[in-house]
Amino acid sequence: MEITVVGGGYVGLVTSACFANLGHTVRIIEIDSHKVEQINKGIPPIFEEGLEEILTRTIGKNLTAQSDYKSIENSDVFFICVGTPPQEDGSANLCYLAQAAESIGAAIQGTKKYQVITVKSTVPPGTTESVVLPAVLNASGRIRETIGFCMNPEFLREGKAIEDFQNPDRIVIGGDSQDAISTVKKVYEGVPGPVIITSLPAAEMIKYASNAFLAMKISFSNEIGNICKKLGIHVYEVMNGVGYDHRINPHFLNAGLGFGGSCFPKDVMALIRLAERNNEEPVLLSSVIEVNEKQPDRIVSLLKERISTINNKRIAILGLAFKDNTDDVRDSRAIPVIRSLLNEGADIVAYDPMATDSMKRYYPDLQYVKSAGNALKGADACLILTEWPEFKELESEFDTMKSRVIIEGRRILSIEGVEGVCW
Ligand code: UGA
Repeated sequence: MEITVVGGGYVGLVTSACFANLGHTVRIIEIDSHKVEQINKGIPPIFEEGLEEILTRTIGKNLTAQSDYKSIENSDVFFICVGTPPQEDGSANLCYLAQAAESIGAAIQGTKKYQVITVKSTVPPGTTESVVLPAVLNASGRIRETIGFCMNPEFLREGKAIEDFQNPDRIVIGGDSQDAISTVKKVYEGVPGPVIITSLPAAEMIKYASNAFLAMKISFSNEIGNICKKLGIHVYEVMNGVGYDHRINPHFLNAGLGFGGSCFPKDVMALIRLAERNNEEPVLLSSVIEVNEKQPDRIVSLLKERISTINNKRIAILGLAFKDNTDDVRDSRAIPVIRSLLNEGADIVAYDPMATDSMKRYYPDLQYVKSAGNALKGADACLILTEWPEFKELESEFDTMKSRVIIEGRRILSIEGVEGVCW
C-alpha cells in the first residue's frame, strides 16, 4: 500500500520504517530538514535498537523522507504522528495535529479515490472527530464518504520500539466506518497479535488508560516500597510474590525513583485535566503523580541521613537517562535529583553511557566524566539513577570512593552494602 506518515520523530520514524519493512511504500513528512537529510542517508536521528538496519534496507527503495506535502495525493492511508506536547496546565496541545490534518486535506483536494486518515498521536478522546475530521474535510473540500477516519494508538516503548511494533500485545483500531477500519487492518497484515476494533474515542481513551494504569502500577510499587523500607522489608521480595498472581502479572512492579520519559508524566496529567474539565475529581490519578513527584526527594533525604551534610560533598551520579538503553532525558528523575543536590551545595560528578549530551542542555555546568570509574574516584557518596546493565559489572570501582555510601534509585548493582531509595 502507499502510506504517508506525518512526523518523523520516535513514533513516526519507527512506524514508517516498520511499515516499509512489511513491504509498503512509505513517505515520511518531517518539517526538520536536517532530520530529513539524515533519514534519507539511512542515519537514524534517534537511537533505537534495530532501526538503522531497517533504514539501510529500505531507504531510497520503498521509504523516503521529505519536508513538504508534495506527491502524497495518491496515498491509500495517512498516519499522523506529530507531537501533542503538554501546555502549561498539563492539557494536550493539539495545534501540530490540526496543522497536519489541514495540510493533508489541502494535498488531497483533487484526489478521487477513497483514502483513510489515521491518527497515531496520543490525543484526548473526541479529537479525531472534532479536530482532525473537520480540518481534513474543510481543507480538501471533499465529501465525507470519500475519506475514512481512524485512530490507531501506538504502544511502543523507547529502546524496544521495533520489537514492540513487530510483536504487539494488541493492535487497536478505532474507526468511523468498516471500510476505514479494514484499510488500516490491511496495513498491519503480517504483524501477529489480536486486532481490537473500537469507536474513535474509545481508541483514543485506550491509550490514555493504558499509560495511566502502567504509571499507577509503578506508583503503587513505590508506595508499598516506602512502607516496606520503614518496616525493614525488601519491596522487591514483596512485589515478586505479588506479581505471581495472574490477575496482577509481574511486569511494571519495579519500585524506585518513579516514572519519567516523554509519555507517562504527560499522559497522566492530560487525563487529569480532561477529567477536571468534565467536572470529575480524578483522586487516584492525582495520587499517581503525587507519589511520583516525591520519590526523587526521598533519595536526596536518604543521602542526607547517611552523610549528614551534602554541602561541598562530592556526589557521583551514575545514570542520567529516564531509563536504560536510551539517550533521552525528558522528565528523567535525574533532573529533580540533580536540582535538589545543587540546591544543597553538592559537587556533582555525573556519568551516563549515552545521555550526557542530552543532560548538558539542562545542566551545562555539571562535571561530566566518561566512565563510572572516573565518577566514583574520591566520591563521598554515589547515587544510581538509571538501570544501565553495565553498572551490574561495577565492583572494585567502588573501592576508590572516599566513603562507601551507595544508594540506588534503580535496582541494578550486584554488590553487597547497597541500599535503595525504598528498599
Ligand atoms: C511508555 C509505554 O510503556 C509505552 O507502551 C507507550 O507506548 C509509550 O510510553 C508512549 O506513550 O509513547 P516509554 O515512555 O518508552 O513507554 O518507557 P517505559 O519503558 O514504559 O518506562 C517509563 C518509565 O517508567 C521509566 O522512567 C522507567 O524507568 C519507569 N519504570 C518502568 C519504573 O519505574 N518501574 C517499572 O517497573 C517500569
